[in-house]
Amino acid sequence: MSKPHQVVLIPGDGIGPEVMHATRRVLEATGAPLTFIERHAGESALALGLGELLPAETLDAIRDCHLALKGPCTTPIGSGFRSVNVALRKALNLYAAVRPVRSMPGVKTRFENVDLVIIRENTEGLYSGVENVITEDVVASMKVATRPACHRISLWAFRYATHRKRKRLTVFHKANIMKLTDGMFLEEARKVAKKDYPNIPYDEMIIDAALMRVVQDPSKFDMMLCENLYGDIVSDLCAGLVGGLGVTPGANIGDTDAVFEAVHGSAPDIAGKGIANPLALMMSATMMLNHIADTREDERCRAAATAIRSAYDRALQEGDKTGDLGGSLGTEAFADAIIARLKG
Ligand code: NAI
Ligand code: MG
Repeated sequence: MSKPHQVVLIPGDGIGPEVMHATRRVLEATGAPLTFIERHAGESALALGLGELLPAETLDAIRDCHLALKGPCTTPIGSGFRSVNVALRKALNLYAAVRPVRSMPGVKTRFENVDLVIIRENTEGLYSGVENVITEDVVASMKVATRPACHRISLWAFRYATHRKRKRLTVFHKANIMKLTDGMFLEEARKVAKKDYPNIPYDEMIIDAALMRVVQDPSKFDMMLCENLYGDIVSDLCAGLVGGLGVTPGANIGDTDAVFEAVHGSAPDIAGKGIANPLALMMSATMMLNHIADTREDERCRAAATAIRSAYDRALQEGDKTGDLGGSLGTEAFADAIIARLKG
């Protein structure tokens, strides 16, 4: 039997520790070959006296294990320091964010059978953090695009489309206005589409009109490739099509390391109440198990992912849901409902 896979758990802030505790119990209940080490980031790292929002020991642990499951970290507005999440993705070069959005059984929404995947470039664009004070009354943020980063995210997205047998890849852009930056993003996507993946249907849409179409009829879309800021916004919009942030998982993937986290934030409005939905983090954990199965050929992890997915599908179908989805279970009770079905 091969060695267990070591995973760094980062509880994060707000509802983070609550949803992480519930998710860890579910992972342990599957018997998947995982061991956990806990490291910290965000305000909780400061509160623990680690001295930094993103301590070096946290980054080092991820570089050692190549895998992390992360809760959300609060980003204070203004006040000088940058987002922990943006910093983490940049430090580990986690250039591809993958956010699958699918209709969940038992969760009633306007549309049925939504099945979308958003691929977001995670390292540049307007999130590069290049901001300048020009005068006291004029400030500027620089949108940065580099050809290698535009190229590698396109390659990554098309490779994913091939492996997952997706139907189509659409780039959302605003190259009509941002001719250089979004223009370069499009140029590289076109190159990859034509030269490397001619068999995958490819198209391009101007993002504002595209989003109007998405909310009218999401079945017209399949995979969406976006630069950083657009991908952030499109992810939350698509989350709204399938029941909200409680059901949308995500992964940040680079060439060597991968950090799995829900799309949602630290939800300070409900933190500490025991009512947060841990499902998005649990779904992120199943993405992690499938990633381990794909990259390390460990089918035990694939089996655990399949078991968790089947357990939460059944739980939702049978009405065991948290408040955000119209149910009445708290965070831990929902985890119990999943664990009962893993055993049953
Ligand atoms: P948010 O996602 O934390 O909350 C938005 C709304 O959705 C709130 O009403 C919240 O109660 C609800 N919600 C979110 N997750 C939920 C869950 N699991 N179960 C039930 N309800 C849930 O977004 P917001 O308020 O804009 O951000 C709060 C903080 O989180 C900010 O500091 C932000 O920077 C940070 N953030 C961190 C992220 C990360 O670590 N990856 C991602 C997004 C935001
Ligand atoms: Mg976001």
